Amino acid sequence: MYVACWSVKGGSGTSVVAALAARRWAANADAGALLVDLCGDGAGLLGVPEPATPGVADWLSVGDEVQIDALRRLEREVAAGLFLLHRGAGPLQRTDRADVMAGELAAEHRVAVVDGGCLWRAGGEEAGGTAAGAPADDIDVRRRIVAGADRSWLVTRACFLSLRRAARAPLQPSGVVLLVEPGRPLTAGDVEDVVGAPVVLRLDVDPSVARAVDAGLLTSRVPAALDRALAQAAPA
Ligand SMILES: Nc1ncnc2c1ncn2[C@@H]1O[C@H](COP(=O)(O)OP(=O)(O)O)[C@@H](O)[C@H]1O
Ligand SMILES: [Mg+2]
Repeated sequence: MYVACWSVKGGSGTSVVAALAARRWAANADAGALLVDLCGDGAGLLGVPEPATPGVADWLSVGDEVQIDALRRLEREVAAGLFLLHRGAGPLQRTDRADVMAGELAAEHRVAVVDGGCLWRAGGEEAGGTAAGAPADDIDVRRRIVAGADRSWLVTRACFLSLRRAARAPLQPSGVVLLVEPGRPLTAGDVEDVVGAPVVLRLDVDPSVARAVDAGLLTSRVPAALDRALAQAAPA
C-alpha cells in the first residue's frame, strides 16, 4: 500500500511531511517503511548523503528489459527500518513505466510514502506535453505514480492562492494534510469544502521545523506534537 503526498504549490511542506511520515511509520511498523522520493529532497531532509547510485529517474528511463525487481535494488536503508528510494538523475520519463512502478508500490507490504511534489502545471494543462504523441514530462510521470496511491494526500496551507488551485487540482485527493498557520482566516472546514476531501492530518507551521530543516537536523528535532499527529495518521 502507498500514501502519496503532493501539492499544488511549492513550499507547502510536502517533502517535510512525506519524510517525517515515513520516518515515524518506519519506527512503528515491523516491516519498516519506504520513502519514495520523486522530487529529490528526501536525502537532504533525512540528513543522509545523496546516494550516488541510480534512482527512480534512471529506472524509468531505461528499456523494458530492466524489470521491476531492479527498482528494489536501488533502495537504501538510511535508518533502522527506514528505506529511501531516491529520485536519481535527470527528468522522470515514461508514463508506461510509471504505471508499472505504481502497481509495484500498491503491492508493497511495507507502508510506502511517495513525495509526489507539486502537481500543478503552471501555464495550463495543454502547455506541458500532454498532447497526443508528445513526450511525457516530469509532472505527468509524478501524477501517474500519485494516481495509483491508496491514500492521496494534498498538502496545503489554508491560503487563498493554494485553495484557488486546489479547486482545480489535477487529481482528486482522498485527504488533506493541513499546515496550520496562526492568523489565517480560512478554516479547515473551508478547505474541506473547496477540496472536497476531509482534513486527515493537521500540522502546525512551527518555526523550529524550518530551523531544523535549514540545519540539516530535521529528523533529530521533530516537534513532539507533530510526531504524535503523524503517528495517529498512520495507515492501518
Ligand atoms: N511544519 C512546518 N513548520 C514550519 N516550516 C515548515 C514546515 N514544513 C515545512 N516547512 C518549511 O517550508 C519549507 C518548504 O517545505 P517543503 O516540505 O520543502 O515544501 P514542498 O515540498 O511542498 O515544496 C521547508 O524548507 C521548511 O523550511
Ligand atoms: Mg518538495
